[in-house]
Amino acid sequence: MSKMEENNMLKLIYGLPEQLGQAAAIGRGCPIIFKKELENVVIAGMGGSAMGGDIVRTVLNEEALLPVAVWRDYQLPAAVGKKTLLFLSSYSGNTEETISAYEEGRRRGALIFVITSGGKMAEMAKTDGFPLLLVPDGMPPRTAVGYMSVPLLTVLYRLRLCRDYTPDIIETQRLIKQRLGVWRRRATAIAPLLLNRLLVIYSTARLLDVAAYRWQCQLNENAKVFCHSGMLPEQSHNEIMGFGAPQFLERKIYTVVLVDKSSHPRTLQRLREMRKLVAGSWAGMHIVKTEGVSPLARLFSSVVMGDLISVAVAEKRGVDPIGIPRIDKLKQALARRSKVK
Ligand code: F6R
Repeated sequence: MSKMEENNMLKLIYGLPEQLGQAAAIGRGCPIIFKKELENVVIAGMGGSAMGGDIVRTVLNEEALLPVAVWRDYQLPAAVGKKTLLFLSSYSGNTEETISAYEEGRRRGALIFVITSGGKMAEMAKTDGFPLLLVPDGMPPRTAVGYMSVPLLTVLYRLRLCRDYTPDIIETQRLIKQRLGVWRRRATAIAPLLLNRLLVIYSTARLLDVAAYRWQCQLNENAKVFCHSGMLPEQSHNEIMGFGAPQFLERKIYTVVLVDKSSHPRTLQRLREMRKLVAGSWAGMHIVKTEGVSPLARLFSSVVMGDLISVAVAEKRGVDPIGIPRIDKLKQALARRSKVK
């Protein structure tokens, strides 16, 4: 891997505070269509784009507002109808599952907003006259996590479906800017522990479930390693029984536990007991605590830490964190298949 590729990914991570500010402006500038009697919000997308939706869902869930669901498939859930606010989220604008969900949402008469950097979905939104949240293009979708989340929060506020998240966004920007140097050094120190291990990332609070999944995806896509994510306390009721088999994993599992101030003390107690019980299986465990005050800032602190660790692991492994050739090939193979028929 050249220094250039690795630095590009780091540069994109370091650009997140600025991205969050631009993302809020995109949400403020988008034309709005109001509709009465909205009953639910659904955000449809895949991969890095769906991650933005998950961040929005998680932050809104902290305050028990409208039910928000994130949907990752070709078909939409039955609950999508005329009273649904449907965000179609695809950074490239060309993801077939999201395009299919778009077409289904349009048929069902949902109130549609499209968030993309271009592609087919930008064209479709323009043709259909749906509000378009156009974000800057040219980035790997997973690095556009600010662009794919914050404009949704801004639009939801403008539709009076949630409070104004501007103070939280500003806090998040400041926190990341201030702490990036420290987090990067920490990531570089932790990375060697994760090499040649099966990585398991556990969240210990519902705020951090999406962060644990983000860690998994970033370790997959940036570091090109297999990784599993799970939730505590839930996994202490089932997965705990699986450690030990297959036997070749003995002492090969490295566990990273994401902890927040909202993590229940009994969940942390449970983790301590669980660790004793599976001591023979785990090669080690590392705890990563959130920083910041608002849920948005705390969540992003964990997301950025995972992003930095995935880059540090990529560095150690000598792989390019940007390229995702297998995902590209899969998309190309599927595109060829739809043309045949
Ligand atoms: C690439 C990435 C992928 C894509 C996914 C969907 O960086 O993270 O998971 O996000 O393949 O593509 P988009 O986001 O363009 O709809």
